[in-house]
Amino acid sequence: LAAEACAHRGALLRFHADPGTREDHGYEYWPDGLLLVADGRVVAAGPAEALLRGEAAGVPLIEHRQALLLPGFIDPHIHYPQTDMIGSGGQDLLDWLNRYTFPEERRFADAAQAREVSEFFLDELLRNGSTTALVLGTVHRVSAEQFFAASAARGLRMIAGKCLMDRNCPADLRDTAEEGERDTRELIEAWHGRQRQSYAITVRFAPTSTPEQLASAGRLAREYPDVFVHSHLAENAKEIAWVRELFPEARSYLDVYERNGLLRERAIYAHCIHLDTADRQRMAASGAGAAFSPTSNLYLGSGLFDLDASDAAGMRYAPATDVGGGSSFSMLRTLGEAYKVAQMKGQRLPALRAFYLATLGAARMLGLDHRIGTLAAGSEADFIVLDEAATPLLARRLSRCQTLAERLLVWMTLSPDRAVRHSYVQGRRAGGCAAPALA
Ligand code: GUN
Ligand code: ZN
Repeated sequence: LAAEACAHRGALLRFHADPGTREDHGYEYWPDGLLLVADGRVVAAGPAEALLRGEAAGVPLIEHRQALLLPGFIDPHIHYPQTDMIGSGGQDLLDWLNRYTFPEERRFADAAQAREVSEFFLDELLRNGSTTALVLGTVHRVSAEQFFAASAARGLRMIAGKCLMDRNCPADLRDTAEEGERDTRELIEAWHGRQRQSYAITVRFAPTSTPEQLASAGRLAREYPDVFVHSHLAENAKEIAWVRELFPEARSYLDVYERNGLLRERAIYAHCIHLDTADRQRMAASGAGAAFSPTSNLYLGSGLFDLDASDAAGMRYAPATDVGGGSSFSMLRTLGEAYKVAQMKGQRLPALRAFYLATLGAARMLGLDHRIGTLAAGSEADFIVLDEAATPLLARRLSRCQTLAERLLVWMTLSPDRAVRHSYVQGRRAGGCAAPALA
């Protein structure tokens, strides 16, 4: 093995399929497991004793005591420029956008501001165990450039884009269809596929783009089929009524995107709460995905995502934080709130399924499951170490669980702030809450 090889011992969980409502399907779990990594990739995962006698013999070993190792979380919808306004009130989405969001986003015309917030934001993601995210910048091209530069310097796998918005927002936060297309094209050429960075063509949402800009985004989406598409959809009642006024010819809000060529694989739409059956079937047939953002939907009073209707249509979705409408960077807390949304709808989100969705499920939705989210041999070694002793209550409660599903539900329910002891990116320790590592 390469000189960089390292073995990590602890309880180890990884998924290979959606467990659905089953407790015996879709995952592998080794209470005394070993993850063998070399040169930033996973070499093997399995029971510790067997691997230590075989492939991992003689390799430097890190013992993660009272810990659960799993793939890094993937957050498929988050706004880095909203880091400094998390927890701002507002009546509803449109009021919150006008009162807090747009004024804050003005600051990202400045490269130094964009870089400083990018660094803090990436630290915060890693402290919370999210090793990949789909990230919105602001309208400013420099907001995306600085974010990519910060991410690339850390070796992170991130997807991001500058917002396209050319109407119905403050004049100093508008691009034009032409400028937006030129900047997007240049950012794609500069950053898409550079190291671990990927670009997302980012129409903020239909109301803030002219028909010309939507058409331009669609042209880009066709021209660059492996680039992501990222926007918001059907979040809030007033927003939807506004879209109906602005686009009377469209069958639905979703149809505004679809008729512009923005519905396809690697197109991710945040929220997708107020869709009808036809919309969900169109989402499913196209391979697009929904970012279910429970803390945001509750915080802004937007509504409750319908897991059962989404499943019935075969629609892809994965949980997301949507900071700063969302109220936490933590995917664990987000899973806990997703569980409660399901409860309020009279539906179920089993804990095993929740953890699947936040790892492999999100990777599949993004078409990145050959690289991340699995801990499969050959995949990129982005993984996290959850601290079972993060708080006295967590340690005590976990010690009383009988099954893995019970333990995971406790994790997402208590979701302590210091839950993530370490985050590893390409096999290197990058962040987390704890003091320096044991070994
Ligand atoms: N719709 C358009 N912009 C935004 C935003 O910044 N946050 C949320 N949650 N929804 C949006
Ligand atoms: Zn959002």
